[in-house]
Amino acid sequence: MAEQEKQGTLCFFVNGRKVTEQHVDPETMLLSFLREKLRLTGTKYGCGGGGCGACTVMISRFQPGTRAILHFSANACLLPVCQLHGAAITTVEGIGSTKTRLHPVQERLARAHGSQCGFCSPGMVMSIYTLLRNKPQPYMADIIEALGGNLCRCTGYRPIVDGCRTFCQESTCCLGNVDGGCCMNGTGTEPELNDGPQLFNKKDFLPLDATQELIFPPELILMAETEPQRTQTFRGERMTWVSPVSLEELVQLKSSHPRAPLVMGNTSIGPEIKFKGLVHPVIISPTRVAELFEVTETPQGVWLGVGCSLSQVRCVLEGLVGRLPGERTELYQALVKQLSSLAGQQIRNVATLGGNIVSALPNSDLNPVLAAGRCRIRVTSEGGQREIPLDQDFFVGFRKTALRPEDVVVSVFLPETRKGELVRAYRQAPRKENALATVTTGMRVLIGVGSGVVQDLSIFYGGLGPTTVSATRTCALVVGRIWDEETLSQAYDLLLEELVLPPSVPGGKVEFRRSLTLSFLFRFYLEVHQVLTEEGVIQHQVPGPVRSAIRPLPSQIQPGLQKFQAVSEAQSPQDPVGRPMMHRSALSQATGEAVYCDDVPRIEGELFLVLVTSSRPHAKILEVDASSALQLPGVVDLVTWKDVPGKKVRTIERYEEELLAEKEVSCVGQLICAVVADSRAQAKQGAVAVKVRYEDLPDPVFTVEEAIERNSIFEPQRKIERGNVTEAFKTVDHIHEGQIRIGGQEHFYMETQSMLVVPVGEEAEYKVYVSSQAPTFTQDAVAETLDIPSNRVSCHVKRIGGAFGGKVTKTAILTCITAVAAWKTGRAVRCVLERGEDMLITGARHPVLGKYKVGFMEDGRIMAADFQYYANAGNTIDESLLVVEKILLHMDNAYSVPNLQGVAVACRTNLPSNTAFRGFGVPQSIMVVESMVTDVAAQLRRPTHEIRELNMYRGPSTTHYKMDFDPENLMRCWEHCKTVADHAARLRAVAQFNQQNRWKKRGMALVPIKYGIAFAEGFLNQAAALVHIYKDGSVLVSHGGTEMGQGLHTKILQVASRELQVPTSKIFISETSTSCVPNTCPSAASFGTDANGMAVKNACQTLYKRLEPIRKQDPKGSWENWTRKAFFDKISMSATGFHRGPDLHMDWGRMKGQPYAYFTYGACFTEVELDCLTGDYRALMTDLVMDIGRSINPSVDIGQIEGAFLQGLGLYTMEELPFSPRGELLARGPAQYKVPALCDLPLRLNVHLLPDSDNPHAIYSSKGIGEPVLFLGSSVFYAIKDAVAAARAESGLEGPFTLDSPATPERACLACATPFTQKVGPTCLSRLGKYILKEL
Ligand SMILES: Cc1cc2nc3c(=O)[nH]c(=O)nc-3n(C[C@H](O)[C@H](O)[C@H](O)COP(=O)(O)OP(=O)(O)OC[C@H]3O[C@@H](n4cnc5c(N)ncnc54)[C@H](O)[C@@H]3O)c2cc1C
Ligand code: FES
Ligand code: FES
Repeated sequence: MAEQEKQGTLCFFVNGRKVTEQHVDPETMLLSFLREKLRLTGTKYGCGGGGCGACTVMISRFQPGTRAILHFSANACLLPVCQLHGAAITTVEGIGSTKTRLHPVQERLARAHGSQCGFCSPGMVMSIYTLLRNKPQPYMADIIEALGGNLCRCTGYRPIVDGCRTFCQESTCCLGNVDGGCCMNGTGTEPELNDGPQLFNKKDFLPLDATQELIFPPELILMAETEPQRTQTFRGERMTWVSPVSLEELVQLKSSHPRAPLVMGNTSIGPEIKFKGLVHPVIISPTRVAELFEVTETPQGVWLGVGCSLSQVRCVLEGLVGRLPGERTELYQALVKQLSSLAGQQIRNVATLGGNIVSALPNSDLNPVLAAGRCRIRVTSEGGQREIPLDQDFFVGFRKTALRPEDVVVSVFLPETRKGELVRAYRQAPRKENALATVTTGMRVLIGVGSGVVQDLSIFYGGLGPTTVSATRTCALVVGRIWDEETLSQAYDLLLEELVLPPSVPGGKVEFRRSLTLSFLFRFYLEVHQVLTEEGVIQHQVPGPVRSAIRPLPSQIQPGLQKFQAVSEAQSPQDPVGRPMMHRSALSQATGEAVYCDDVPRIEGELFLVLVTSSRPHAKILEVDASSALQLPGVVDLVTWKDVPGKKVRTIERYEEELLAEKEVSCVGQLICAVVADSRAQAKQGAVAVKVRYEDLPDPVFTVEEAIERNSIFEPQRKIERGNVTEAFKTVDHIHEGQIRIGGQEHFYMETQSMLVVPVGEEAEYKVYVSSQAPTFTQDAVAETLDIPSNRVSCHVKRIGGAFGGKVTKTAILTCITAVAAWKTGRAVRCVLERGEDMLITGARHPVLGKYKVGFMEDGRIMAADFQYYANAGNTIDESLLVVEKILLHMDNAYSVPNLQGVAVACRTNLPSNTAFRGFGVPQSIMVVESMVTDVAAQLRRPTHEIRELNMYRGPSTTHYKMDFDPENLMRCWEHCKTVADHAARLRAVAQFNQQNRWKKRGMALVPIKYGIAFAEGFLNQAAALVHIYKDGSVLVSHGGTEMGQGLHTKILQVASRELQVPTSKIFISETSTSCVPNTCPSAASFGTDANGMAVKNACQTLYKRLEPIRKQDPKGSWENWTRKAFFDKISMSATGFHRGPDLHMDWGRMKGQPYAYFTYGACFTEVELDCLTGDYRALMTDLVMDIGRSINPSVDIGQIEGAFLQGLGLYTMEELPFSPRGELLARGPAQYKVPALCDLPLRLNVHLLPDSDNPHAIYSSKGIGEPVLFLGSSVFYAIKDAVAAARAESGLEGPFTLDSPATPERACLACATPFTQKVGPTCLSRLGKYILKEL
């Protein structure tokens, strides 16, 4: 122990540079160390909990035993710095830069258009870089696996995959995905070639050259080989870290500190400390204790040291599976399967086997398999060594095991399987990968050789209670019986009786979870049956359609098409308009050089601000007590409503929203006050120490139903009507009523809300660096709050790491509070929300309840429709009124319904206030009309696309708000989509598939969109620009739009390049600044390029004209000569440009107007395959056809299309925002909120830009595209619904049915109404056992 008393010295390398630390706080993670101490800001914070991959770095370690160097990717946010002794860390800055040499991974990601906002790019780069260090010529499967733990909210992943694919040596075979056949042997569909113009040319790419990589520091090798191993101790303010080197010492330490956790991968303890605020005075880190890493093979099985990471475990098991006969490795195969989908690779690389077992997650993927597989652990303590079986007696409660506090687990024994023994593992999770399971299971059966009699059975489940549970009674029932249907049918009943889930069980999903227990057993039954049939023990085969239960969903991603029109041959080769061009910052983003708000270097004296939020949904504030907070070290001040010098509220319509609550709170998460301190950590501790006393107010309102009942709404309600709906209903053949709920959606921009307010100058001047889509809105809000004129506040937006509508109003409020703190303290103040705070505070997309009544004719014509929309606005009005207006404007989508009426209400509730989100109500609105059309088709028993087509606008048309338009391109998109998707053939193939498969169903949907572009509030359709040309010919462009990944600045460069006739390399856009261009409008409504592009064009034309005399004098002169001459001729080379956009309006009183400049049209076909037993699905193919006029930049536009599509897929099939009964948002990070990951990308995603489309209403005949495609993600929803309908037909259920959005696996599975779901549901239509008997 004497050794332990000494403070250790930590030595590691970062990007080849030695770092020596003697006083490390054990609470410091590598991410903050890199960003704050080393100022390496390329590694990003996205969630802090290992769930997003933005912080990925490569760790390299020398293994003295083998003299090998191990490279692995890891999440810096969960890596304690204290653990890094002897490691070499490589960050994105270490592998290449724009100043020296780009690394091929950085270059290819950028040039393949895989970087939009760029916030995820460094993490993506490092995941692939690490892969290539280990495997320079990977397979596609390796790439997919390496990126499984990295989230991107912008690109839709396709371009990232395509960039990385260039490192693979593979053909573009169809891989037998969709038709079951294969293009190589002529039985499948040959993938269409991506002929025509390409988005990038891989011949331009830098080659991968391993000799250029950083070498592992020789000093670390020497250190590992010669340095005596000593105990290391690091002391922080609240925590002491001890790292022993021998097992004996570890046992002693654990005995002296039985409550101290053993931190290995820190993936369980780390998030607990971070998110639950746990403080452990002592932490023991045994990562250097050799015994914990030993692997010993015996004739009976293998002993694995529990310190092995999950990746190492997988590697060892794969080795055994490869070497040993299959019958001996049944358990290992089942574990390998679980390990391949458990978390992301970065987590698997550090999380340990022992950590997984001991942290005893109720839904651990490994524990049920280990338990079913008769595994046991070896445990040691001062009392000696013992072995404990991993069975039901080991897992004793929620995250509790039978271990004693002083126990150290050393190794796990994994037995080989015997002849006749079969082991399987299954899991179902909210997302296919990188998501904790809803239910997970391990099952093992031993069948008498030749007899078919069950000699032993073991079934364990995770996710069915507080801990891993055993179905002991069910197993006992089956043992001694024949493995047949009769046995199985009895087992089901007992299983349900044995594994009870009370309705109030944490995590909910009771019916779903219970049905999964049955369907997993069914699947196990079939798999065992199949093996027994193959071995000749059982004579009768499982029929083909039933075997579909055990066939996995297709999963091979294929290259997609990106079809666009080449520019005309007459266009000058220098003119970049209409050609693909890489995002102008893509290279800086991929190298980590791009500066986001939180990357701005610290300013002298800077403070950090953390907010204190309400924990009550509706309450009076009795007291805010900050006395203890103010005593804490580093805490400087408290900011409350009293401190606001100017306007304390933001007013919209007649409703006021307080910046900081004064007397009352109306939702959990409402801002009450803020603590400013010298550091982030101190401000956070200060905020926790602020005590707020409340008096609860009665009856908070949470749902729209409660709001309607209590008349809790934001006025005015909007209504619109065309024709006479009441009369029309009297004349139709059929009337149908239905409803659909569309859940909300969290923006989940990868960069959380960030701002830095700096007081400058002597006359109350403030520089505001902010990640905002609306710099002027923020500037004005800050000025009003501080009671100073707007000319004292300048807002600067360099770039935004994703926004999607969520960085307008909420950002302004947060910036105002930060500005008050800067004003009060006279110091620079930074506020960067943590992911959980961001999700809690800033609201989401409005959830909507849509009700409809539709009247239609026998031939499918819809004659009348009556809609009611109830949007959950939350506690303040924000933009909710505009959202409900937009809902009404789009309620027709692509359909001409002669009699149409709708009302839309913004409901006021005690939930956090919802706000703008890409599509601004349209994705919710169109969902309702499409649900209605689907019901009509179901009622008439006709394919939905026929009803859609029959009712679509044709010829010169007028909307329900009396705006004339020509829908020709809508129909062109529709027809083109049918052709490219080979719709008729797919229809036949799907019908045939469904006939041949009982438990997998395919479904398809073809969905149109008509999307209005520009702001209905005419004054917002304006933009200004300022263009300077310097004497050296370089051009500086400023305009009012912000760059948030959508490629606006790139398109603007193309515009300026065409107008000035200079290459884009001469043009620069530094930032968006309210000092350069005043009175900017928000970058929103898909109108950024339309407005700002025209303003820049205007300014450039002015300047070009001014140069005309010089050009005429010297027509052969160079641009540089002309611009230099202009100076000497005293010609101003600075010009403003302005675009006065269309004067759009909507008169709600008269229910008519011209709220849009034009429409963007599109159509989308998607086919999915659904697993009816689990609700899991895979989008097999998607064909998108979009009319975006003449694209200014096809790579940027296709990027927007694909990104929006995947975001829509998330909205409609995955993303759920659960609230507690007290109105508290339960999803506070990627662990609970699942946005689409790479595993959700359709296996084949084709994008076609409609050729020969012109648009006289926008710059260069282009069209806005940022938002429209989001709705087309619903093609996946409706394809799932179609597959569900096929499954329901098997249970004899026909006609319309309700499927709410998102169609999560839970909803899809329950809607299938299989015998399994019916058995656990309120109605039990058939005896399950008999049903299966009948089928077999
Ligand atoms: C983003 C993310 C996704 C995840 N997804 C999944 C998933 O899909 N499926 C799944 O099953 N799990 C999942 N996990 C959980 C993960 O597998 C566990 O957190 C991990 O295995 C724990 O290992 P660790 O080494 O990080 O443990 P640590 O956090 O280092 O320690 C965990 C606990 O184990 C104890 N402990 C560790 N070693 C010993 C020992 N030798 N003797 C006694 N006690 C010991 C510690 O005292 C501590 O209490 C996920 C985790 C994250 C962060
Ligand atoms: S920030 Fe580390 S994984 Fe998200
Ligand atoms: S580019 Fe991936 S998150 Fe923006």
